[in-house]
Amino acid sequence: MNTRAHIGVTGLAVMGRNLARNFARHGYTVAVHNRTASRTRALMDEFGHEGTFVPAETARDFVDALQRPRRLMIMVQAGAATDAVIDEFAPLLESGDMIIDGGNAHFADTRRREKALRARGIHFVGAGVSGGEEGALNGPSIMVGGSKDAYAVLAPMFESISAHVHGEACSTHIGSDGAGHFVKMVHNGIEYADMQLIAEAYDLLRQVAQYSPAEIAEIFRAWNKGRLNSYLIEITAEVLSHTDADTGRPFVDVVADAAGQKGTGRWTVQTALDLGSPVTTIAQATFARAASGQSALRTAYRPLPGGMHIPKSRSKAERFTSQVEQALYASKVIAYDQGFTMIQDAALAYGWDIDFGAVTGIWRGGCIIRAAFLDRIRTAHKDAPDLVSLLAEPAFAEEITAAQVPWREVVATAARRGVPAPAFAAALSYYDTLRADRLPAALLQGQRDYFGAHTYRRTDRQGAFHTHWAHPD
Ligand code: ATR
Repeated sequence: MNTRAHIGVTGLAVMGRNLARNFARHGYTVAVHNRTASRTRALMDEFGHEGTFVPAETARDFVDALQRPRRLMIMVQAGAATDAVIDEFAPLLESGDMIIDGGNAHFADTRRREKALRARGIHFVGAGVSGGEEGALNGPSIMVGGSKDAYAVLAPMFESISAHVHGEACSTHIGSDGAGHFVKMVHNGIEYADMQLIAEAYDLLRQVAQYSPAEIAEIFRAWNKGRLNSYLIEITAEVLSHTDADTGRPFVDVVADAAGQKGTGRWTVQTALDLGSPVTTIAQATFARAASGQSALRTAYRPLPGGMHIPKSRSKAERFTSQVEQALYASKVIAYDQGFTMIQDAALAYGWDIDFGAVTGIWRGGCIIRAAFLDRIRTAHKDAPDLVSLLAEPAFAEEITAAQVPWREVVATAARRGVPAPAFAAALSYYDTLRADRLPAALLQGQRDYFGAHTYRRTDRQGAFHTHWAHPD
């Protein structure tokens, strides 16, 4: 083999193939391999002219094609397939070589694999790659876990193929072992919440203000020029203005209303329960997808009475639209804040030293949740690295203060009219829970002490107390 590759990519389905092409287009020599060799040949036939590829049919040829320390990137299905590929390649590697898993692995698997490979002298780098197939080809956001030393070797390559915002690369080292995949998972959880909030805003504008999908598309286009500016708002306007070619009806009206999911939202919520992180808006967004698919339940509930009918008036509709914009913005800030809290909780639990400014920095480009307001979040984190919450930052606090009355109005209107708004309501409840002077958690402690002698702490002195309750018969 006379050409030594800078990096190797094994697993040449959509994501792997596009990442390999992205590396090659940036001048890197890329060894390419796939379990089924026909995919490797297809890549060479279609895209071989885009750069310098070294196709390899066997694992040995693939490993031998790589410069030392070897950089071997796995782009196969998460779970058993990833373990199978690691088991196949690890015995062929030498101390100091690197395996990079760019798939959607669960962070706990990444922690396990990193530990096992570290014991064999191999760096295991769990890298969350966001941006889907388009991002993989033209510039993803890359959230990298594993050792700092491994990232130092990989940084020039990752930072050249990633998205860039204002000249800054959307790739960074997040923390050791599973930190990269963890942050990617929470990113997806935030994405679920963001999408659900936008969908609820649409539903309210449609059902309460009685705007058509095309009119709502225009409203979203206007919002996209302001503080809500984001990829998701932009594509929502595109989807809402799309007409179904077969029927001439709005596209959104011919799509079955049962949402799919690949599982990263579920992982976020499951993990949040383990960590005790109250990511209620993300959880409601995940449950909303599940509820939409419960067709038997929906049939059983459908005949039940709904909310009040309030006649339409254009001026009221316009006022309501502005209230929905405020509610959407406030709820979105809460959803992101919940995600950050969860990352903070995990950092504490797993010993990750996470630079939140860097995390928000790389979410500004390449990924689905890219949004103008991430610039401001990044500044807030950079100015105050120990920021407990976005709402502890004066500018965000001011905006939420200004939005809170319309936000309540929207949630109350949704309840009165019988329009489901679970994510809006969860975000508002979270806000009210955390700003409360006193929570009924005190009463819960009393109940727990009553039936289980679980003890309680007092507001006026230290220690654990138990009351000898006179239990009624
Ligand atoms: P994408 O989301 O990018 O389309 P994926 O479904 O996550 O891809 O992963 C598919 C890739 O994983 C394919 O390259 C597949 O190899 P084949 O083309 O031979 O099917 C690879 N893959 C799945 N299971 C594998 C295994 N046990 N060993 C090696 N590669 C495997």
